[in-house]
Amino acid sequence: MNIIYLLFTVSSFSFPIAAVDLNLNSLQSLQNATSLVAYGLMDYYTGDQYGQTVGMFSDPYYWWEAGGAWGTMLDYWYFMQNDTYNDIITAALLHQVGTDNNYIPLNQSTTEGNDDQAFWGITVMTAAERNFTNPPEDQPQWLYLAQAVFNTMALRWDADSCGGGLRWQIFVWNSGYDYKNSVSNGALFHMAARLARYTGNQSYVDWAERVYDWMSDVGLISNGSYKFVYDGASTTDNCTVLTTYQWTYNQGLLLSGAAYLYNYTGSDTWLLRTNQLLNASSVFFNNSILYEAACQKSGTCNNDQRSFKAYFLRFLGQTAQLVSETQPTIMKWLNASAYAAAQSCSGGTDGHTCGLNWFSGGWDGMYGLGEQMSALEALVNTRVLHLPGPYNSTDGGSSIGNSAAGTEQEATNLAPLHITDGSKAAAAIITSVVGISIVAAGVWLII
Ligand SMILES: *[C@@H]1O[C@H](CO)[C@@H](O)[C@H](O)[C@H]1NC(C)=O
Ligand SMILES: *[C@@H]1O[C@H](CO)[C@@H](O)[C@H](O)[C@H]1NC(C)=O
Ligand SMILES: *[C@@H]1O[C@H](CO)[C@@H](O)[C@H](O)[C@H]1NC(C)=O
Ligand SMILES: *[C@@H]1O[C@H](CO)[C@@H](O)[C@H](O)[C@H]1NC(C)=O
Ligand SMILES: *[C@@H]1O[C@H](CO)[C@@H](O)[C@H](O)[C@H]1NC(C)=O
Ligand SMILES: *[C@@H]1O[C@H](CO)[C@@H](O)[C@H](O)[C@H]1NC(C)=O
Ligand SMILES: *[C@@H]1O[C@H](CO)[C@@H](O)[C@H](O)[C@H]1NC(C)=O
Ligand SMILES: *[C@@H]1O[C@H](CO)[C@@H](O)[C@H](O)[C@H]1NC(C)=O
Ligand SMILES: *[C@@H]1O[C@H](CO)[C@@H](O)[C@H](O)[C@H]1NC(C)=O
Ligand SMILES: *[C@@H]1O[C@H](CO)[C@@H](O)[C@H](O)[C@H]1NC(C)=O
Ligand SMILES: *[C@@H]1O[C@H](CO)[C@@H](O)[C@H](O)[C@H]1NC(C)=O
Ligand SMILES: *[C@@H]1O[C@H](CO)[C@@H](O)[C@H](O)[C@H]1NC(C)=O
Repeated sequence: MNIIYLLFTVSSFSFPIAAVDLNLNSLQSLQNATSLVAYGLMDYYTGDQYGQTVGMFSDPYYWWEAGGAWGTMLDYWYFMQNDTYNDIITAALLHQVGTDNNYIPLNQSTTEGNDDQAFWGITVMTAAERNFTNPPEDQPQWLYLAQAVFNTMALRWDADSCGGGLRWQIFVWNSGYDYKNSVSNGALFHMAARLARYTGNQSYVDWAERVYDWMSDVGLISNGSYKFVYDGASTTDNCTVLTTYQWTYNQGLLLSGAAYLYNYTGSDTWLLRTNQLLNASSVFFNNSILYEAACQKSGTCNNDQRSFKAYFLRFLGQTAQLVSETQPTIMKWLNASAYAAAQSCSGGTDGHTCGLNWFSGGWDGMYGLGEQMSALEALVNTRVLHLPGPYNSTDGGSSIGNSAAGTEQEATNLAPLHITDGSKAAAAIITSVVGISIVAAGVWLII
C-alpha cells in the first residue's frame, strides 16, 4: 500500500474521533474503540470490490496474511459480540478453500508454503471452536477444513533429513524447500493440539508429541525453565546449525499448543512446558508492553513480520482461557499492551490508524494491515476471561468434520446429495491439471 492510496482510503472515513479512548473496565468503551480499529483493518480489504478476489486484502499483503486477518476478525466478532462483518468473513473463508477443500487454491498452489496453508487452517479451527455460524450444507465445514489442512501437512512429514520435521516450502522449486522451520512445525503441533482437544481423537495427541519431540531434539525449542523457540535449521547440514531469530508468533504457536494439550490431557508435562514457554515469552515485553524484538527496534520489520504480534496476542488469550495459572502474567501483559496499542491508534488523517511501536505513547508513523490486526488483537483479548473458552465437539462446538479430510477428493461431510459422480470427475480433472502445471513449472525451472 502506498501513501497516496492510504490518503485516498482514509479520506472516505466518516468518524470524527481523533484518537482511540479506552477504559478496559467497560465493554462499551472497548466496543467503541475496537469498532474503529476493525473498520481501519477492513479498509485494507478489497476483495468485495469489482475485479478483485474475495478473501484477499490489497497489495502488498500476501495470501497467508489474509488467512491470519480473518482470524483476527473472528476474534473481533467473538469478544466484542459484534457480527457486522460475519458474512464477509464467511464468504472469504469459503472462497479460498481450493478445489480439494484444503486451502491450496489454484492461484496460490505453486508458491504456497506449509506456514501459509496453516494460517488459514488455524482460522477455521477458531471458527469451529467458537461455534461460528456453520457454512451452508453444500459447502465444506470449518472442522473439516481444519482437518484437511492438518492431514495434508502431516503427510509432508519428512524423515529423510534431520530425523523428521516439515520443510518450510511444499514444492522443491521454491526457495526455502531446504529449510525446516518453527512456524511450519509449530503450526502442525498447534493444529494437532487443538484438533485433539476438539475431537478427543488420540492420534492428534500422538502427532503433537511427535512434532514437539522433534523440535526439541534438533534444538528449535530450547531446554530448561525458559523454553525459547528459534526460527529454523537447514537440511543441507542436517539441521545441526540453528538460525536463532525469535519471533513472537513462533513462541505463541508452541505456548498455546502446550496449553491446549494440558487442558485436554491434564498432564503435568504439558503444564510444565506451558509455564516454561510462558517464561520465555517475557523476552518480547518491555514494561509489559509487547514488541517484535527481532526487528522492531532496528526498524526492519517487513509486512509479514508486522502482523506477528497479532497471532501471539491471540495465542496468549487462548492460553489464559485454558490454563488458569497463566492468567495473572498474561492479563498483566494484555492489559498493558492494549492500553499502549490504543494510544498508538491515533494516526492518519482519520485519527485512528494504528502504529507498530507501542512504547511511544502515540502514533509512530507506521501503518498497515499488520498494525491494525495487532492492535485489534491486543484490545479484544483483554476480554478473554469474560467469555467461554474454546468449545469442543461435545460441549458447544457444532462443526462437523472427518478425520480423513484432505486425503480424499471430496468433502465427505457434505450432504450426500451434493457428492455426485460429476463433481468427483470435475475434481479429478482439476487435480490433474494442477498436477500437470506443477510438473510443467518444475520442468521449466530445470530448463
Ligand atoms: C460509545 O459510543 C456511543 C455512541 O457514540 C456513546 O454514546 C457512548 O457514550 C460511548 N461509550 C463509551 C463508554 O465510550
Ligand atoms: C459493531 O461494529 C460496527 C462496525 O465496526 C460498528 O459500526 C458498530 O458500532 C459496532 N457495534 C458495537 C455494539 O460495537
Ligand atoms: C484466482 O484468480 C482469479 C483472477 O485473479 C480470480 O478471479 C479468482 O477469484 C481467484 N480465485 C481464488 C480462489 O482466489
Ligand atoms: C541427521 O540428524 C538426525 C537427527 O538428529 C540423525 O538421526 C541422523 O543420523 C542424522 N543424519 C546424518 C546423515 O548425519
Ligand atoms: C469436551 O469438554 C468436556 C468438558 O467441558 C468434556 O467432558 C468432554 O469429554 C470433552 N469432549 C471431548 C470430545 O473431548
Ligand atoms: C534437549 O533435550 C533433548 C532430550 O531431553 C535432547 O535430545 C536435545 O538435544 C536437547 N536440546 C538441546 C538444544 O540441548
Ligand atoms: C520461570 O522462571 C523462573 C525464574 O525467573 C523460575 O523460578 C521458574 O521455575 C520458571 N518456571 C518454570 C515452569 O520453569
Ligand atoms: C523499553 O521502553 C522504554 C520506555 O518505556 C524505552 O525507552 C526503551 O527503549 C524500550 N526498550 C526497547 C528494547 O525497546
Ligand atoms: C486487567 O484489566 C482489567 C480491567 O481493568 C482488570 O479487571 C484486571 O484486574 C487487570 N488484570 C491485571 C492482571 O492487571
Ligand atoms: C480447560 O479450559 C476450560 C475453558 O476455558 C476451562 O473452563 C477449564 O477449567 C480448563 N481445564 C483445566 C484442567 O485447566
Ligand atoms: C452452536 O451452534 C449451533 C448451531 O447453530 C447451536 O445449535 C448451538 O446452540 C450453539 N452452541 C453454543 C454453545 O452456542
Ligand atoms: C482418529 O484420527 C485418525 C487419523 O488422524 C483416524 O485414522 C481415526 O479413524 C480417527 N479415530 C476416530 C475414532 O475417529
